[in-house]
Amino acid sequence: MKLDIPLIVGHRGAKASSPENTLPAIEEAHAQGATWIEFDAKLTKDGVPILMHDETLDRCTNGKGNVADHTLAQIRELDAGAWFGPRFKGTKVPTLEEAMALMAKLGMGFNIEIKPCPGREAETARISCALVDKLWPKSSPVPIVSSFKAKSLEAAKASHAHLPRGFLAEELTGDWLAAVKALDCATIHPGFRKLTQAQVRTAKDAGYPVLVWTVNDAPKAKELLAWGVDALITDAPGAIGAAVK
Ligand code: G3P
Ligand code: MG
Repeated sequence: MKLDIPLIVGHRGAKASSPENTLPAIEEAHAQGATWIEFDAKLTKDGVPILMHDETLDRCTNGKGNVADHTLAQIRELDAGAWFGPRFKGTKVPTLEEAMALMAKLGMGFNIEIKPCPGREAETARISCALVDKLWPKSSPVPIVSSFKAKSLEAAKASHAHLPRGFLAEELTGDWLAAVKALDCATIHPGFRKLTQAQVRTAKDAGYPVLVWTVNDAPKAKELLAWGVDALITDAPGAIGAAVK
């Protein structure tokens, strides 16, 4: 499977300058020159994958309560942009289907992070992968399905083994390479704070692309690239992209 991962991946779209995980955030990342974005996917009460990071609606919408307790119709009533700034008022929580349609139109690629509500690890992966498999154009860049949750990665592998999986970790600890292999992942996505140059070398020597998050500092971005990482997942794709050119 050929992965065509760019150096810069917009985090939750372009989180620094737009309401995260929304269609305007995808447009903003594109306007800043990003060709790929990362976003978080979870299920509504009625099982529809939407873009949302938190378990609750409170931070990124004008609603309240658990995402898993609200149907898509209820969530679509909410405003997911006004909290960030008045010009984003009226922005809706996007479905995965809508996000993919926009990214395909813009010629972008993506890393979908399966971010399940507790207890929904397997079904979030299965349903999201099924939609990606069905709707994402085969001519577009092959997407990466990542998760912190082993259960989600296992479910993704069981149902859609051909979609490459990304091993997400705040920190690479213990025998992390064995875990990457056991989950049959194609890429490794470590947080940057505790990542070491030796770990990057180990990952690269083992043949894995390394995508590091969330890198918003230009000197750190340059250092990580010097270590040999493949991609920087950043809230500010324009600025970080310009800094590492
Ligand atoms: O996928 C990279 C990064 O998004 C993981 O952390 O909490 O921002 O989803 P989080
Ligand atoms: Mg994420």
